[in-house]
Amino acid sequence: MTNHKIYLYPVWIRIWHLINALMFLLLIFTGICLHFCGTGQTLIPFNIGVGIHNTAAIIITFNYGVFVIGNMITRNGKFYRKWRKNLVTNLWKQFVFYAVGIFRNEKHPFPITEKQKFNPLQKFAYVIAMYFGMPLLILSGLALMFPGLTGYSVFNISSLVFYDVLHIIVGFVLSLFLLVHLYTCTLGDKPGTLFKSMVTGYHEEHEAEE
Ligand code: HEM
Ligand code: HEM
Repeated sequence: MTNHKIYLYPVWIRIWHLINALMFLLLIFTGICLHFCGTGQTLIPFNIGVGIHNTAAIIITFNYGVFVIGNMITRNGKFYRKWRKNLVTNLWKQFVFYAVGIFRNEKHPFPITEKQKFNPLQKFAYVIAMYFGMPLLILSGLALMFPGLTGYSVFNISSLVFYDVLHIIVGFVLSLFLLVHLYTCTLGDKPGTLFKSMVTGYHEEHEAEE
């Protein structure tokens, strides 16, 4: 057995990720409470829900700025570039591995190295979630927070309704991303290996010698 240990998660990305994950969970919980407050059957009162949702929203927004700037000025950003290269073929290969190969103990089609931190499916999901989903979620959320800035209507619909529906849809899709993310994070060497990486910074892999 050989043991590969690669340092892949710098301290700043681990701190960013921890804050992001905690705020995200709070936003999902309070978002659902706000959504159903009209039924009179919510877990927390509306005012408290809005207060927590807004506070977590501001923290996650600044934290998102750290992610974008951090990826612009450190080497971590390169893992998010060139994500469209051979996209369909690579996604398919990774998908077939997750659907079949992994259960037959086959070798990973895109082994993790210092140059390749993410497999194509991870890379695609992270780029879409972080560079398309999060900006839409934050912008629609800010539009709800500062309705005076958005004008009265968008595409002939009241702007409040427009941004509200957009916010709910994007929040829902990103919550689905989180579920898939949590599942794929259990697919390391052992179910807990990748979670440990996000604490220690080191990606670990054991390989049987031929
Ligand atoms: C995981 C992330 C998030 C989820 C799942 C989420 C979900 C929701 C939901 C379901 C609502 C209630 C909408 C309704 O039923 O009409 C809501 C309201 C709102 N959200 Fe979010 N949200 C998230 C992140 C954010 C962010 C990042 C911001 C701001 C930057 C934000 C700002 C707001 C505001 C201002 C409201 C309106 C609150 C009110 O009624 O006064 N949210 N959100
Ligand atoms: C309870 C919540 C969460 C847990 C336990 C968790 C767990 C993990 C783990 C174990 C990794 C390292 C494995 C890998 O590289 O794929 C990771 C990376 C990552 N996660 Fe999460 N995650 C959570 C929430 C989120 C959320 C809400 C987002 C985005 C909205 C997110 C975005 C990312 C990104 C972009 C990376 C790669 C960071 C980098 O190395 O550049 N995670 N997560």
